Amino acid sequence: MNNIPVMEPDRQYYFMDRCKERLADLMEKAGRGLTYNIQTFGCQMNAHDSEKLKGILDLIGYQETESEEADLVIFNTCTVRENANQKLYGHLGHMKSVKAKNPDMLICLCGCMMQEPHVIETLKAKYKLVDIIFGTHNIYKLAELLYQRLDTGARVIEVLSHSEITVEKLPQKRKYQFKAGVNIMYGCNNFCTYCIVPYVRGREKSRAKEDILEECRMLIDAGVKEIMLLGQNVNSYGNTNPEISTTFPELLAEVAELPGISRVRFMTSHPKDLSDELIDVIASHETVCRHIHLPVQSGSTKLLTAMNRRYTKESYLALVDRIREKLPGISLTTDIIVGFPGETEEDFLDTLDIVERVRYDQAFTFIYSKRTGTPAADYPDQISADVIKDRFDRLLTSVNRIAGEELARFEGSVRDVLVEEPNRQDASLVTGRTSENVTVHFPGSTDLIGQIVPVRLKECKGFYFIGEQDL
Ligand code: 5AD
Ligand code: SF4
Repeated sequence: MNNIPVMEPDRQYYFMDRCKERLADLMEKAGRGLTYNIQTFGCQMNAHDSEKLKGILDLIGYQETESEEADLVIFNTCTVRENANQKLYGHLGHMKSVKAKNPDMLICLCGCMMQEPHVIETLKAKYKLVDIIFGTHNIYKLAELLYQRLDTGARVIEVLSHSEITVEKLPQKRKYQFKAGVNIMYGCNNFCTYCIVPYVRGREKSRAKEDILEECRMLIDAGVKEIMLLGQNVNSYGNTNPEISTTFPELLAEVAELPGISRVRFMTSHPKDLSDELIDVIASHETVCRHIHLPVQSGSTKLLTAMNRRYTKESYLALVDRIREKLPGISLTTDIIVGFPGETEEDFLDTLDIVERVRYDQAFTFIYSKRTGTPAADYPDQISADVIKDRFDRLLTSVNRIAGEELARFEGSVRDVLVEEPNRQDASLVTGRTSENVTVHFPGSTDLIGQIVPVRLKECKGFYFIGEQDL
């Protein structure tokens, strides 16, 4: 055992080889191939992590399946809202009967929820069917932990409180051949008072610019048309790494200018530090998509202060004006929380007011969820469920009406659409997105998937368009 490499990623490639040998034996015994299934919850970051897990499992020799009756099932969990936790326990209850049919099946849990100590305690005590548990800081170690489980037959639990390293150059399996996410940073230092992310994803850490650019070049060479730069707050890229002197606008410009790139997006951008330089870089680069996701959370300055968002209603509106002045027609989308502790009717009316003024193309609305360990969980004046429901319904009516009215501005125009998939309801249609991230369904063959084609947006159907290829 003393020839195990110490350095990453060599160490993980070593364990992938060892797992491959084990798997070959298991497959021979079973007389069939072995399968895996990954169920991903939560945000883009988790979706991207799952692509890395899939890359490792494919290399080991497992075959992916849609069915949870697989030989290895992984739940990549989210814990942003409390109900996600309940859902996972529900799923695991169901998995008991699935595992009863295939006792050799392995169940693995990872992701944000695993970073919460009380979750690990519950799993240890009540969910003995789980074979492998790891957290957000060591997803790169899947092969090593899997090997340990295969080798010892004992349950493996490894959850780290922070990560020392970012491991580069591991395999990944992309869901789409023509678009890909690229992490530019991990973790979050913002500590919005309602949010558990800084506790479960750890402190902010940026990747080296050269590693990011190299990954982008590799993706472009492999045929990727659209790259999404990912971070909890991309605007603070490099801030906590003294060796990185590049700012996010500079990085974005470099990615946008890579030979062969068609589109670049980014997610998420915190309103407190979205700079004028960033607006200028978007304006001066056609390849940067005309869409900014700009989570406002609330329209009340009092609540924004209590949330530790570090902007006011007025400064947010001024930022929106600056963006629209240089980028007319750009699509703005947002996240809004209803029912944060202390939210009065007046505060809520401020939220409705900011929605009316900004006029978002899309808004994701969330009911405040109390997360143990966050400052807001101990705030007085938690809001009752019926008041929240009433406000939530009013907000939803408002954001939906405005989104429909706003999207209509594209009606009749011809936009470049990146075709992503066949339409799920109607096989004669394909579905894609404009630079503004607007969904368009139009008649076309699946040969168009992965191509960017001009499409006339004929009819606005609320959240999406029916279009026609502009030949
Ligand atoms: N309750 C409700 N929504 C939350 N979000 C984050 N934490 C919570 C919480 N405790 C929402 C925010 C964030 C989005 C990803 O999830 O709106 O922007
Ligand atoms: Fe959570 Fe705020 Fe960080 Fe976003 S910026 S992940 S809402 S703490």
